Amino acid sequence: MASSSITKTIPIMAIPNFNVCHKLELIKEEAKSGDPKLQGEEEELSYEFREMLESLPKERGWRTRYLYLFQGFWCQSKEIQAIMSFQKHFKSHQNDVVLATIPKSGTTWLKALTFTVLNRHRFDPVSSTTDHPLLTSNPHDLVPFFEYKLYANGDVPDLSGLASPRTFATHVPFGSLKDSIEEPGVKVVYLCRNPFDTFISSWHYINNIKSEAVSPVSLEEGFDLYCRGVIGFGPFWEHMLGYWKESLRTPEKVLFLRYEDLKQDIESNLKKLASFLGVPFTEEEEQKGVVHAISDLCSFENLKKLEVNKSSKSIKNFENRHLFRKGEVSDWVNYLSPPQAERLSALVDDKLGGSDLTFRYN
Ligand code: A3P
Repeated sequence: MASSSITKTIPIMAIPNFNVCHKLELIKEEAKSGDPKLQGEEEELSYEFREMLESLPKERGWRTRYLYLFQGFWCQSKEIQAIMSFQKHFKSHQNDVVLATIPKSGTTWLKALTFTVLNRHRFDPVSSTTDHPLLTSNPHDLVPFFEYKLYANGDVPDLSGLASPRTFATHVPFGSLKDSIEEPGVKVVYLCRNPFDTFISSWHYINNIKSEAVSPVSLEEGFDLYCRGVIGFGPFWEHMLGYWKESLRTPEKVLFLRYEDLKQDIESNLKKLASFLGVPFTEEEEQKGVVHAISDLCSFENLKKLEVNKSSKSIKNFENRHLFRKGEVSDWVNYLSPPQAERLSALVDDKLGGSDLTFRYN
């Protein structure tokens, strides 16, 4: 009947639309001692959860007071709570796509590229020069994080209404993700960036967004923490190796991409991504300039200048503009001293040597 076909053709919203099906009860604890530093993230946690946190090793945090060693990686308290909820409640579907990165490896770029590739028949990147969702939404609004968005703040979302392929993102290491993505057909795309630039990008970003209650992390202190593995979702070498090894073991499930390769040759990496996701570009699309249009639409220069990325907030209320800094390879040479570069280089050799995981630095 006409009416049912109308219902079926109602366009699906570009921004994933889901309801919260229930909310975990979180108790807001008053800051007891009047210490302004207590009035940070940790007051919004349940008492049971706080007790569990107290049993974990902890170190000085970069953005919050502490990072805790949880399931073998360093993490902030509220993220741990969200990850535990995600691990308990998330049910993967065949065809789900999960974008995985360690922070500051190009997550925003990967989200933009993947969203545009997967949705190119709804939103033609060649002709939709004014109404493509990326022009008015930050990539983090189009591909939500499990731990910062979907399962944050005690929310347990109802994801059943999302269009297939459902596309999510996470920073958790592979070991903490694998049980949640066992369904055949789930695909993981990991974007890796050389550890030198990842460190410099993290250091800038965190100092831009951290709460005033936490003292700034100097380059020296941040560098030492980074080399000891103490950074959100780190140690970086374990994060990278976890996905690297899995991509070698199950290449049909995990695609391993490098930021530097994308910078050097975005179009062939876009083709690799589309083929991996099961939606390869046709010859006709290539001739029409679809691959080129996607690379232009998602380029650093294009995204950085959009109003939504200059003035709005997406992840956890942080300003989008901090997500677009320089977008270059090798900016680390402007910051690290020769002894620091030597230390990090030796660390990379020690931790990743023998794995065949190598990086380009310029
Ligand atoms: P820099 O700080 O070196 O400039 P993430 O998205 O994981 O937070 O990573 C942020 C890094 O990716 C930042 O690096 C940022 O400038 C860069 N970036 C953001 N969008 C990009 C894009 N479209 N192309 C290339 N790099 C991008």
